[in-house]
Amino acid sequence: MEKKTHILGFAGSLRRQSYNRAILAAAFEMVPDNATLGIFDLEGIPPFNQDLELEPPEKVRDFKARIRAADAILIATPEYNYSIPGVLKNAIDWASRPYGDNAFDGKPVGLMGASVGMLGTARAQYDLRRSFVFLNMFPLNQPEVMVPFAQDKVDGNGRLTDEKTRKKIRELLESLVAWTRRMKLSERVPATEELTAKSKG
Ligand SMILES: Cc1cc2nc3c(=O)[nH]c(=O)nc-3n(C[C@H](O)[C@H](O)[C@H](O)COP(=O)(O)O)c2cc1C
Repeated sequence: MEKKTHILGFAGSLRRQSYNRAILAAAFEMVPDNATLGIFDLEGIPPFNQDLELEPPEKVRDFKARIRAADAILIATPEYNYSIPGVLKNAIDWASRPYGDNAFDGKPVGLMGASVGMLGTARAQYDLRRSFVFLNMFPLNQPEVMVPFAQDKVDGNGRLTDEKTRKKIRELLESLVAWTRRMKLSERVPATEELTAKSKG
């Protein structure tokens, strides 16, 4: 049997009634049979201090270990002041350090976000995609999951009730798994003998 793709998800909001936690919870419910989704809570990660990067706090060590153990990453984020929320950027900064020990290196990543506004976190998502360049992550291009007017799509119990959005998240998960598998296949670097044989032949 093929090994399941293990995805690690986290939300860029600590709010208890967070719409982004709600869409991540919906993803958890809908994860395809060939994958698993573990959720990491960013609560408790202190502000980044480069003086501590060689001996990071336990929560950060745990976060980095969970990232390393995952085949792919899934981020659900709000947009704050047209960009990435500090809580999320801070966690990413910790996990990317010290230089040469970036836990995100080479990881496929899927993105989604919910906001109460009409652009559904578009600007935060594109800013994240810029950071993925330096982090050397491999973002899934599509589907883009931007959930505007989230207050109309999540009920009082934190359940995502909007069917169209649920379908989009299902598509995102399926595409992320397919993308991750594709990346894994291309990770198989040919042995030196294979390359020599090719150049001779
Ligand atoms: C500091 C702050 C800045 C915000 N800036 C934006 C913004 O730039 N664009 C937007 O669509 N919503 C913005 N909002 C509203 C968020 O979409 C809304 O608070 C949303 O519920 C946050 O996600 P959450 O429910 O997962 O916590 C902002 C909210 C806060 C608290």
